[in-house]
Amino acid sequence: MKCRACGQKAVVNMRQHKLALCKDHFLEWIPEQTERFIEKYEMFTRSDKILVGVSGGKDSLSLWDILHRLGYMADGLYICLGIDEGIGYSSESQRLAEKFAVERNLKLHVVDIQKEYGSTVPEFSSKSHRGRLKSCSVCGLVKRHVMNRVTRDLGYDVILTGHNLDDEVAVLFGNTLSWAGEYLLRQGPVLPGVPGLARKAKPLFRIYEREMLAYALLSGIEYIYDECPYSVGSTSIYYKQLLNRLENDRPGAKQSFYLSFLEARKSGLFAERELIQAELHSCTSCGQPTSAQGLCSFCRMVAT
Ligand code: AMP
Ligand code: FES
Ligand code: ZN
Ligand code: ZN
Repeated sequence: MKCRACGQKAVVNMRQHKLALCKDHFLEWIPEQTERFIEKYEMFTRSDKILVGVSGGKDSLSLWDILHRLGYMADGLYICLGIDEGIGYSSESQRLAEKFAVERNLKLHVVDIQKEYGSTVPEFSSKSHRGRLKSCSVCGLVKRHVMNRVTRDLGYDVILTGHNLDDEVAVLFGNTLSWAGEYLLRQGPVLPGVPGLARKAKPLFRIYEREMLAYALLSGIEYIYDECPYSVGSTSIYYKQLLNRLENDRPGAKQSFYLSFLEARKSGLFAERELIQAELHSCTSCGQPTSAQGLCSFCRMVAT
């Protein structure tokens, strides 16, 4: 297989794009594509103050690397969740995020949730009515709350995450299986900011997981290889495997599933639901929007 750009030996073959590239051209192509999608979906501009949620994994570190190469002003945010039994998942991911930042002279904010809110993710989980909230739900709640709080308090215009196409398609698949209208209405590459809620964007949402892995490896980014211990056996990993089987037989199926969803929504598939969307109130403790009266789910968890 030869690189389409220069005819040298290709190292990555993307069947869904009918495109093979050598290392150098692939490492140019990914940032070019990312830039194209940032502009096409009006995610942010070079004059925005950008914050990237950095987990120490391949996607978010690659995203930070790409933004830096493209000349965007982007600082990082690492949230220490305290998931440390066994492999020391949180400590190791923090070490890698900090190393990445120091080597490139980038600014990284670190929020340690045990120090700030009194418990780690596993502790919040076991305290919640004898483990009613699974660690992954607690973790999602914590990450959303902290990202939003830091973005707002430090005056950033937008918060970015490293979700890739496979992440987004797995979530879409799950939401479609249960026709979760409320979630289908909100899922997308950009969530506009509303009072109390920061603008969010996912610049890698059109890039396959496999290509992000290749980007991280070929550009020599040191990232945490291990998955979070709580994700073992998770439904989202199972959906990803199913979707990869589909993709294998029909290259491009994952991308077209996601893009046709965005198109269908744009043409009004969920228009009625949009009208009855739950009204949001401000949490009486932190001020972030919530559909509940009084405290938001995060503040309720911290208070117990
Ligand atoms: P995940 O939910 O673990 O698949 O991560 C999705 C995205 O959320 C990552 O690409 C990061 O941008 C962000 N993220 C995940 N974990 C953290 C963390 N501990 N601190 C900051 N950002 C995170
Ligand atoms: Fe949050 Fe695994 S990273 S529970
Ligand atoms: Zn080439
Ligand atoms: Zn709150």
